[in-house]
Amino acid sequence: MTTASLLAADLVLTVLAAAGWLGGGAAAAARRRPLALALAAVALLATLARASTVVALARAGWWFAAEKVVVAAPLSLAAVAVAGPRLLRAADDIRSVAVPLLFAGYAVSAALLVTVLHGYPVSASVGLLAVAGVVAATAVSWRLLDARPSRTVSRVAVAVAVAALLAGTGLAVTPGTAPAAPHEHGYPQARISDQPTRRFTLTAGTATVRVGGHDVAAWAFDAQVPGPELTATVGDVVEVTLRNRDIGRGVTLHWHGYDVPNGQDGVPGVTQAAVLPGQEFVYRFRADQAGTYWYHTHSVSDVGVRMGLYGVLVVRPGPATGLDVVVPVHTLADRPLPDARVESVEAGVPVRLRLINTDSTTHRYALAGTDFRVAAIDGHELSGPTPVRDTAVLIPAGGRYDLVFDAPATPVALHVDGRRVYSTGAGSTATDGWPVLDPLSYGRPAPAPWSRFDRDFTLVLDRGLDLRGLLPRYAHTVNGAADPDIPPQVVRRDDVVRFTIVNRSQVVHPWHLHGHHVLVLARDRRPATGSPLWLDSFDVRPGEVWEVAFRADNPGVWANHCHNLGHADAGMMLHLVYS
Ligand code: C2O
Ligand code: CU
Repeated sequence: MTTASLLAADLVLTVLAAAGWLGGGAAAAARRRPLALALAAVALLATLARASTVVALARAGWWFAAEKVVVAAPLSLAAVAVAGPRLLRAADDIRSVAVPLLFAGYAVSAALLVTVLHGYPVSASVGLLAVAGVVAATAVSWRLLDARPSRTVSRVAVAVAVAALLAGTGLAVTPGTAPAAPHEHGYPQARISDQPTRRFTLTAGTATVRVGGHDVAAWAFDAQVPGPELTATVGDVVEVTLRNRDIGRGVTLHWHGYDVPNGQDGVPGVTQAAVLPGQEFVYRFRADQAGTYWYHTHSVSDVGVRMGLYGVLVVRPGPATGLDVVVPVHTLADRPLPDARVESVEAGVPVRLRLINTDSTTHRYALAGTDFRVAAIDGHELSGPTPVRDTAVLIPAGGRYDLVFDAPATPVALHVDGRRVYSTGAGSTATDGWPVLDPLSYGRPAPAPWSRFDRDFTLVLDRGLDLRGLLPRYAHTVNGAADPDIPPQVVRRDDVVRFTIVNRSQVVHPWHLHGHHVLVLARDRRPATGSPLWLDSFDVRPGEVWEVAFRADNPGVWANHCHNLGHADAGMMLHLVYS
């Protein structure tokens, strides 16, 4: 069983156990004896079955099981110990087991709430709050069912509940590590001497654009979606003047995957102020990385990018040879971009397809009709890419793959999620059943550049209740906290930094660190065996554990977030800070 299915199975068992105990308690209170016994039996079986899912999860990694071992297991044991023997003795008066069964139900539900609302890391305060809740709920049920607990029992219950509540809330409000506020005033400045300069101007504004034959309201650069394609040659200085005509919530330009100096990174509130209507901002950086990249607004990025504020950035090592095609995929107002395109190519011409995923979810790309090689991922050339055929690639949100091949005499066709977006002639191929390429075992390996790490950070991705803002929200969390309360990761220049990224949740999180490419070391404890993979965007799927590393060689304050931009907006964003 995969870790993801273990997590799901454990959740189902917990819900079954909670529902069984609570339902059994209610049935017992109503003197429905057979029903009460049946529900209690279901609960008992589900509780016992959890022993194996929790052990298996703990073996997959403590992050997956911590609160289940520390909070749920003791509460479940207490539930079984209290309810079990009483059930056996309940031959004559089924109503006498109502409170014990309800107690078991509260205990399991409290543990379930800890998992669903809090997750990792487990803390004493959360455990104590759970205990307080269980005791209080049991005491109330006891009263309501008029079972007349003895004086001592009720006093002890009240004392335990109050003590646990006080201790729990007390611990919860003790200040933890206060996150450092990124640049409160004074943003970093660019320092670039004069060199051959490629100048562009991009004007952001509301616009109506045509997608698949329909008029759609968009936010666009120069009234087009995607925005103008920016191209440069390695060594050029790129200078882009951003103007905002009427985007009320402000715009910026973030060079996704391009490791620019911090002041050019385009993160409002961190590296610059958002550019408001009527204002402008000039970006300047030297293009010293070749490859396929993209730019997008980082101001209310979830809405801004979805509405169309993005475009392509391609930096070539020299004059283009052969056919160079850029395919930036996007979903605008529920309609896919780009429109299908057909162009004829002479046999033998070298073709480079630059595939870009600008959406917030993964896309599946399938190139039919030719052998091809994956020449580059996220702008970095792979070493020793071998030809593959009838194989799909999955590109995470924000990610890029460059596919290369020599045009065959017969047509080739590129499909995205089964839709044909680019082809060199007519024809049709079913690509649905194709296997998917695993980049971690593709290409020729090279020894890792580092053997020891100066810093180790673990990011456990999950969901949880965030009560720190104005309104409570069910946030996407990192180590149990949500932006802006996630402590920053502090590094020194030239540190070799390792991240372990763990996905405890039920959804994919495409991880994206600004300003640096990370080298993939391992996934699920299996070391990467293919070409060194330097990524800026990678999908951490449910239950996966990724280990990546990089050298801290680009000082500043850098966003580090999930590139499902809705998740980032809902808390899944932190910062890497150089001390
Ligand atoms: Cu492409 Cu912080 O984003
Ligand atoms: Cu996410």
